[in-house]
Amino acid sequence: MTLRRTKFYRKILILTSITTFLLVMLNTYIFTRNESGQTFSSNNGLFRRLYSKGSVLLDYAQELDSNLGNVMTTSINSSVNNTEIDHKNDHKEHNDLIIPGKYAWIPYPVKRNPSGPFTLKTNDGSVIKYTNYTFYPLTINSSYIINNPNICKDVKKLTFLIMVHTAVPHFYQRQALRETWANPRLLKSHSSRILFLVGRIENETVQRSLETESKQFQDIVQGDFIDDYHNLTHKGVLGYRWITEYCQNAKFILKIDDDVFVNIFRVIHTLLPKFKDGQRKIACRLHRHVYMYRRGKFAVDPDYFPGLNHYPLPYCPGPFVLMPRSIVPEMFEAAKTAPFHWVDDFYLFGILPNQIRNVLFFPLGDVHNREETAIKCYLGDKPCNYLAAYAWTPGVMYMYWNSTLNMHTKLFKQYVKKR
Ligand SMILES: *[C@@H]1O[C@H](CO)[C@@H](O)[C@H](O)[C@H]1NC(C)=O
Ligand SMILES: *[C@@H]1O[C@H](CO)[C@@H](O)[C@H](O)[C@H]1NC(C)=O
Ligand SMILES: *[C@@H]1O[C@H](CO)[C@@H](O)[C@H](O)[C@H]1NC(C)=O
Ligand SMILES: *[C@@H]1O[C@H](CO)[C@@H](O)[C@H](O)[C@H]1NC(C)=O
Ligand SMILES: *[C@@H]1O[C@H](CO)[C@@H](O)[C@H](O)[C@H]1NC(C)=O
Ligand SMILES: *[C@@H]1O[C@H](CO)[C@@H](O)[C@H](O)[C@H]1NC(C)=O
Ligand SMILES: *[C@@H]1O[C@H](CO)[C@@H](O)[C@H](O)[C@H]1NC(C)=O
Repeated sequence: MTLRRTKFYRKILILTSITTFLLVMLNTYIFTRNESGQTFSSNNGLFRRLYSKGSVLLDYAQELDSNLGNVMTTSINSSVNNTEIDHKNDHKEHNDLIIPGKYAWIPYPVKRNPSGPFTLKTNDGSVIKYTNYTFYPLTINSSYIINNPNICKDVKKLTFLIMVHTAVPHFYQRQALRETWANPRLLKSHSSRILFLVGRIENETVQRSLETESKQFQDIVQGDFIDDYHNLTHKGVLGYRWITEYCQNAKFILKIDDDVFVNIFRVIHTLLPKFKDGQRKIACRLHRHVYMYRRGKFAVDPDYFPGLNHYPLPYCPGPFVLMPRSIVPEMFEAAKTAPFHWVDDFYLFGILPNQIRNVLFFPLGDVHNREETAIKCYLGDKPCNYLAAYAWTPGVMYMYWNSTLNMHTKLFKQYVKKR
């Protein structure tokens, strides 16, 4: 009797579960159908659609929906020409890319006297001295205007800190990163956090919006220097300092600009295994011998490296740099004596690595893809395997991400946290 009753209830329970499941599926189906237009006007809708695939992070999407209201509207023109897809770099292997001895850093005994000459020893053995320079980056010891010291602290081991150079008014770009590949709640097998670095802005309205944003997302650090193109070196050194002070548990630093899309799955899957424990190498699309402009927007003062037409060291351009966190405190230390140079990527990923021991570059091929080329690639029929690409146009970041989620379903299942 009791047994029969139990069986009966069990049946009811199973039936209810199945019905609920079917209802949920139907809901998802209708929901997805309604949202499936080619052109869309709200990225919230897109975001929901992206995550309705496997119901990943749906709650978070709803949370963002209610927080953001209609602040961000996006439109994507998906009728972009689809024919010329550059798959040249797809599936490129990175095994053979480490340049041995040739680019090994020549250790340089750091001079502590700021008024003495600063000497740079380049790879071909020549020695460069310069005496007339602005001293150190301001952010060596200036105060933080906004600090969020806990970004890295709620996990024990952090795989990535994604460090983003961004301008104060770039609210949209930051949100696009938080909602797509750089979302700190995305990964299951690895952990990542995001840090946005900004400088000072005079406009109080914009400053107040930044403070609100910081309260909400707690991922912004603002340094005490005017946020200007020629002040980006201060921003980068601020990042090195912040990591040294507050993020010792990160294994890797992924430095990007706020308009860069990264295929984070590929980074984990193909790039991270190339870093063996303790290896001191910096992965990027290396600038080996880059022309140094003396006029125009990128002009370098004639007092810097007089007589040279090219930057005297190889360096990583800023949009995509992956490096082990362990070398950052050393580079921050080096920034205390290496004279300021306004070309931030040359300073941060050229001069500073030059000043510390035994760092190698790990040159990559398929990063910094032009937006135009990348749009075609991501709208193509095959998975677009770029490691990183520019996303300048509003909405394009979401489109790349959509394409990545749709095309890399295996990687998606492997790495993305389900709710
Ligand atoms: C979308 O792209 C097509 C083809 O490139 C172009 O003709 C059309 O004007 C674009 N529409 C918008 C809204 O940008
Ligand atoms: C797309 O590009 C191809 C090759 O450049 C060209 O022949 C074709 O007309 C283009 N289609 C559209 C719709 O712009
Ligand atoms: C240092 O640079 C400034 C600005 O370029 C120049 O005016 C000045 O003469 C230089 N001083 C020395 C000692 O070279
Ligand atoms: C910051 O460092 C510079 C150079 O070491 C020093 O002259 C200055 O007094 C320091 N400022 C503060 C506020 O500690
Ligand atoms: C501050 O920025 C807002 C938003 O961009 C703008 O509308 C306003 O005019 C700016 N205020 C000043 C004083 O520049
Ligand atoms: C960089 O920031 C410092 C400190 O705020 C400021 O004095 C300087 O004018 C800024 N440089 C530029 C080019 O804006
Ligand atoms: C997102 O992916 C779906 C499925 O491949 C596609 O139908 C849709 O057009 C995509 N949306 C955008 C904005 O790329």
